[in-house]
Amino acid sequence: MNIVTRKFDTLVVGAGGAGLRAALQLSNAKVKVAVVSKVFPTRSHTVAAQGGMNAALCNVTADNWHWHMYDTVKGSDYLGDQDAIEYMCRAAPETVIELEHYGVPFSRLENGSIYQRPFGGQSQDFGGDQAARTCAAADRTGHAMLHSLYQQNIKAKTHFFDEFFAVDLLKNDEGDILGAIAIDIESNEKIIIEAKTVLIATGGAGQLFRTNTNASINTGDGMAMALRADIPLQDMEFFQFHPTGIAGKGMLITEGVRGEGGYLVNNDGERFMERYAPHAKDLASRDVVSRAIAIEIREGRGCGPNKDHVMLKLDHLGSDVIKKRLPSIRDTSITFLGIDPIEEAIPVFPTAHYTMGGIPTNRFGQVVVPIGEGTEHALPGLYAAGECACASVHGANRLGGNSLLDIVVFGRAAGNHIIDYLKENPHHKALPEESATSVLQRLEYWEKNTVSMTESYTVPQLKAELQLVMEENCGVFRTEEVLEKGVNAVKAIKDKLSKASISDYSSVFNTARIEALELENLVEIGLATVISALARKESRGAHSRMDFDKRDDVSWMKHSLYFMKNNLLTYKPVRTQAMTVATFPPKERVY
Ligand code: FUM
Repeated sequence: MNIVTRKFDTLVVGAGGAGLRAALQLSNAKVKVAVVSKVFPTRSHTVAAQGGMNAALCNVTADNWHWHMYDTVKGSDYLGDQDAIEYMCRAAPETVIELEHYGVPFSRLENGSIYQRPFGGQSQDFGGDQAARTCAAADRTGHAMLHSLYQQNIKAKTHFFDEFFAVDLLKNDEGDILGAIAIDIESNEKIIIEAKTVLIATGGAGQLFRTNTNASINTGDGMAMALRADIPLQDMEFFQFHPTGIAGKGMLITEGVRGEGGYLVNNDGERFMERYAPHAKDLASRDVVSRAIAIEIREGRGCGPNKDHVMLKLDHLGSDVIKKRLPSIRDTSITFLGIDPIEEAIPVFPTAHYTMGGIPTNRFGQVVVPIGEGTEHALPGLYAAGECACASVHGANRLGGNSLLDIVVFGRAAGNHIIDYLKENPHHKALPEESATSVLQRLEYWEKNTVSMTESYTVPQLKAELQLVMEENCGVFRTEEVLEKGVNAVKAIKDKLSKASISDYSSVFNTARIEALELENLVEIGLATVISALARKESRGAHSRMDFDKRDDVSWMKHSLYFMKNNLLTYKPVRTQAMTVATFPPKERVY
C-alpha cells in the first residue's frame, strides 16, 4: 500500500460535541489523539443545537436526577436501557458545571445562576408539575458548547485532520478495529490513520429525509462504516420527527419556543394540544406532539391554502423575551419566511430531526455486539458516542435537551474508558496490508465513473429519490404496505447507485466524489431504517404503525439489531435493571 500512514493512540472520527468532549478528556490525559472531521470542527452539526441541555440543577424549579431519569424512561416509551439512563441523568449536573468552566456562556438568572427553561416531557416528582431542566445559552446552546470545546482542545493540543473524510474502518483478521482510511477532501490524497483505539462520533443521518432540520453533512457516515465492518445498528426504526420545523423547509424552530410559553394552533385558532395532552399540552414529548399535528392536518384542520401545516404562536411572549431568549429563532423566521415572530405566528410541520438508533454501546461508550444467543461482548478498543451511537438512553423517543447531554456524558465516559484501556494495551497491533483492499476498490470506482458515463444515474438525482422515498414511506405514521414499498424502493436505489456516475466537477472540487460516498452511506442507513421499521409490529414512541396501533410489551420490549450482511435482523432484551434504584416498569404513557 503506497499510502501515507500516521499512528496515534486514539483516532476520533467526528468533531461534534461527543468527539470533542472525548478528545479533550484524552488530550488532557496526554493521550496522543487524532480527530478526523469532514468539516472544520466548529461547523459540526452540534453547532445547530438550539434549546439546551438537560440537568437537574434546580435553579428554576425543584428537581433531582431521579425525576429526570423517570421522565427519560417514560419519554423513551420504556425502550431505553435504565442503567444507562440512570448513569446519564446522575452525571448531568456535573457535566454542565464542567462545560461552564470550559467557558460555555450559559444564559443567567437574576441571581447569576445558570438559566433553565421548561422542555417537553419534563416533570417534577415523577409525573407531577412541569420542571424547568434545560440549561440554555439563549437559543444557541450547541454553538456555545462546540466553540468552547474546540478551543479547549486547541489548548490541550489535540491533533486535527480538518476537512478529511473518513471512508472506512480498518481491521485485522481477528476483527480488531485498528484505524481508518480517510481522504483529504481538497487534494483527494488518501491517508491511513492507525490507532490503538477508535471512537466513532460522526452524528446522525437526518439527510435521509427530504425535509429535515439537519446539516447537509449528516449522512450517517460512521454508522455505515460500522455496518461495513460487520457491526450491527440498534433500534434504527426509531427516527425522531421534531414537531416544529419550518413548514416545507425544515429549519428547526426550537422546542424552547414552547418552553418559553409559545403554543400551537390549528386553522380554527384552537390550541389543539389541550385535547391530546391535557396536562403537559404543548410540552408533551415530541412523538406525541408530532402525531397530534399530523392528525390535525389529516382531519382538515391544517392552516394555509393547502391546509398542510399548523401555526406556532409566540407573539404574546413580547419582544423582550423573544429578543433575549430566542434571538436566533427570530432571525431564522425573518430570513427564511419574512415573518417576524414578535408580530406573527410561524408555520410549522413535523420535520426529520434525530436518529435514535445507532451503533450499540454500553455506558462506557464501548461498542457491544452479540456473540450467540442472549450474550454480547464489547469489541476491544472500539467506541462510539453521540447521535451515531445507541447507548440506549433515548429508546423509542428522545426527550428534547437530552442529546446535548448524551454527547458530553458519553463522550467523557468513552474518553475515560479509553484512558484505562490504553494503560492495559499500550502497543499498536499490526494492521495487515490487505485490510484496505475493498475500500480502495470502492474509491477507485468513484474515481473512474465521472460524467462521461452518460447512460448512468447521477448521485444528486439518486439522493433526491432516496429522500423522497424515506419521507413518503417511513414518516410519522407507518403501515405494512407503505413500509414494504419503502424497502423495495431503497433496494432499487442501492442497485442504481452501484451503476451511478458523478459530475466532472470532481476534477476541480473533490466534493462530488465525497457526495457519492455519503450517498452510499445514507442508502445503507435508509435500508436499516425501513427494514427495522417493517419488522416492528407495534407502535412505540416515534414508531407509529397504523396497522399495529398499540404498544406491545409482551412481544416487543426488545431492541432490534440490523446487520448489513443479508439485511439480517436480530433482537436483544431491553436492560430494565437500573444501577442503584428501582426499575420504572412500563405503564400507559399519558402527558
Ligand atoms: O428544539 C430544540 O431546541 C432541539 C433540541 C434537541 O433536539 O434536543
